[in-house]
Parts: sequence; structure tokens; C-alpha cells
Amino acid sequence: MSFIKEFEHLRIPLQDIKLATNNFDDNNYISRGGFGKVYRGELIRFGKSVMVAVKCLDPTFGQGNTEFWNEIMMLSRYKHQNLVSLLGYCYEDGESILVYEYLSNKSLNMHLSSIHLSWIQRLKICIGAAKGLQYLHDPGMTMLRVLHRDIKSSNILLDDNWNAKISDFGLSRFVPANQEFIFTNPVGSFGYCDPAYVESGLLTKESDVYSFGVVLFEVLCGRLCVVDYNDNRRFLSKLAERCYKEKRLDTIVQGGLLEQMSKECLRTFSTIAYQCLHEDRTQRPTFGTILRELEIALRLQYQDQSAFPENDDFAPNTQWAHINETEQYLKDTSTAFRTPDDAAVRIQTAFREHLLRHKKVFYPRKKGARRFEHSLSIVKKGMKQQLKC
Ligand SMILES: Nc1ncnc2c1ncn2[C@@H]1O[C@H](COP(=O)(O)OP(=O)(O)O)[C@@H](O)[C@H]1O
Ligand SMILES: [Mg+2]
Repeated sequence: MSFIKEFEHLRIPLQDIKLATNNFDDNNYISRGGFGKVYRGELIRFGKSVMVAVKCLDPTFGQGNTEFWNEIMMLSRYKHQNLVSLLGYCYEDGESILVYEYLSNKSLNMHLSSIHLSWIQRLKICIGAAKGLQYLHDPGMTMLRVLHRDIKSSNILLDDNWNAKISDFGLSRFVPANQEFIFTNPVGSFGYCDPAYVESGLLTKESDVYSFGVVLFEVLCGRLCVVDYNDNRRFLSKLAERCYKEKRLDTIVQGGLLEQMSKECLRTFSTIAYQCLHEDRTQRPTFGTILRELEIALRLQYQDQSAFPENDDFAPNTQWAHINETEQYLKDTSTAFRTPDDAAVRIQTAFREHLLRHKKVFYPRKKGARRFEHSLSIVKKGMKQQLKC
């Protein structure tokens, strides 16, 4: 295979991968996906140790050599902060292995129902993933788009700061920018695949948009898109479309999230998610539009004070969520402060306003107020350091 030469610089000896994973030790095993088993490892490269995720091709799981080389080709050409990085590969002794940067929070599917993943964090993950997909769909100078064809929450990986990175390009295809569609055998994952593509075999860029819409509803509803294969009502896309149209999305939003959301933010987020699922592909938004709307949703969330209920009895969960969100807001806006004093004054003002707004809530619950004050002091310290350097 002559093209192997092109990727020679990415070749990693099998011996090094065995060393990195302690000979594919069970303790290093992460999960098994459509490609085969995935292991965590510590690889020595150019004298430095790096954490890696190692994917070993098992052809009995459906994917094969074509997908293996496709992944290497795509990821060696396309680099972006919201795409996973391929560090190398191994094609030796009958083994086909891909080696990636290790993303410590693994994949989005594992966190969908977690109460620790706040609404703001969820919005940011969706924004990151949309940025990665917009980059792939943008033909730029190459005049070629990359259509991913397997967008799903398990292909959105998360680093230690919860930044989203799109992964798994084995099924992706180049499509000339001036071509509306290509005819291919439909592939993808059950529940995420665009029904119009499955029916016709015509692949368009809007098929990725459909799958992303499904992921947006997964994020909102805190569950996978297919739970029970035999029960039609359990297909999230259909359920979400129905609830959106009947204005009763609140009945399917993940418990604990609704209390954290501003109404306008929920409206913006769910409208764009709903449009992604449009039956008529020409009516679906582009990733540029999706990104813009998600960013508006995040801004609305930050702006809307009424998102935080003011009565005495609101659940402790909501209090914690609010505390986390205020901290996050301060962190996110910290780069806008020009001097530590500026930062300190603005933080104190924000804190005072916050306490005033929530006086009734925080005074009876001293523990919450104490924790809030403590964590704010940590944020303040961190920001002062950041501003000094
Ligand atoms: N680079 C990585 N860092 C950390 N975990 C990973 C990485 N790549 C894959 N994983 C984990 O391994 C699982 C299996 O991956 P994969 O083979 O892509 O299958 P699938 O996408 O069908 O779940 C993923 O769901 C994810 O949790
Ligand atoms: Mg995957």
C-alpha cells in the first residue's frame, strides 16, 4: 500500500504501545466501541510521557481497514481545537491500532444524566462540538467539505476542562462544496441517522445537522436517544419533536436542569435543536447558524436574572447549581478585567448583588453561603494570579 508512506511519520512501534498499556492490561481498559477495544496508556514519545487512548481494530465489530486508513488520513489533515488529535498509529503483526490524545472526561454519552453537569457546562459542550463541525463543513480553500456521518454523543469527547472534541472519522466522506449530495450506502448509528438519508441513500451536509439535533436533545433531556429498541415512544427525536410542538418540553427536560435555565435560553436552544430535525432537509440550519444560536442561548442564560427563583423553599440542588454557575460566570468573564483591582471590585459587586437577590435563600442556609464565599475567594485568588502574569 503506497499511501502508507505518506503517514510513515505517524507510525508507532507495537512494542511502545504494549509498554504504554501494560500489554493491554484489563486495568487500562476503557470501553469497547464500533471499532474494537479502547485502552488508556502512558506513552513515551520524544523523551516525554503522554497520556493516550489506544483503539485496537477488531474487524468482527463491523469496521475494517478502510475506516482505519480513513481515520488516519482525515485526522492528519484536519486540526482544530474541537477535533480529537491523532498522535499516531500502528500497523504491525496483524494489528491495526490508532493512538489518540487521552481525554480524561471520556465521552458525552457517559455524562448525559449526570446531575453534576450543569446547564451552562452543557451549553458550552454543544458550542464546542458545533465549532468542530462547522470547521469540517466549511470547504475553505480546499473546496471540499468533510461530512462526518457518525455524529453521536459517544463521538463527542471531553477533556479535563470539559472542552468538546469531535472524534471517529472512520466513516467520514469528502464532498465537493458545489455538489448538493452524493449517493452512498447509508451508514451511521441507530437513532442518530437522518431518516431522509436512510430512505434515499443521498448524503447531504444536512444529515450531520440532523444527528447533531438529536445530540442537542440528548443534552437537554439527559438521556440517550434510544433506550428501548422495541418501544417507539423511546426514540428521543420523535418524542422531543412532539413535546416541542405541544409546548411541553418541560416534561422531558432532565430533572434539576429546568430550575437552572432561563426561559429565553431554553426557547432558543430547543428551537434550534428542533430545526435540526426538520423533515425537509433544505429547512435545516447550517452549523454556522447553529453555532450562532447556541452562543445566543449562552448569553441569554448569563443575562437572565429571573432564571434564579427567589423563594425560600427552592431545592438545595438548585442552590448548588446557582452557586456553580455564578462562579463559572466570574471565571468566564475574568479575562475581561484589566487589573486585579478592577476584577476585585466587580467580583465584590457581583457577590453583593447576588447576596441581595438571594438574601432569603442564603441566610437560612448558612452552609450554602459559607461555601459560596469560600469558593469565590478561590476564584478571586486564581484571577489575581492570572492577571498578574
Ligand atoms: N481519546 C479518547 N480519550 C478517552 N476516552 C476515549 C477516547 N476515545 C474513545 N474513548 C472512549 O472509548 C469509548 C469507545 O470509543 P469508540 O471505539 O469510538 O466507540 P463508540 O464511539 O461507538 O462509543 C468511547 O465511548 C469513549 O468513552
Ligand atoms: Mg467513538
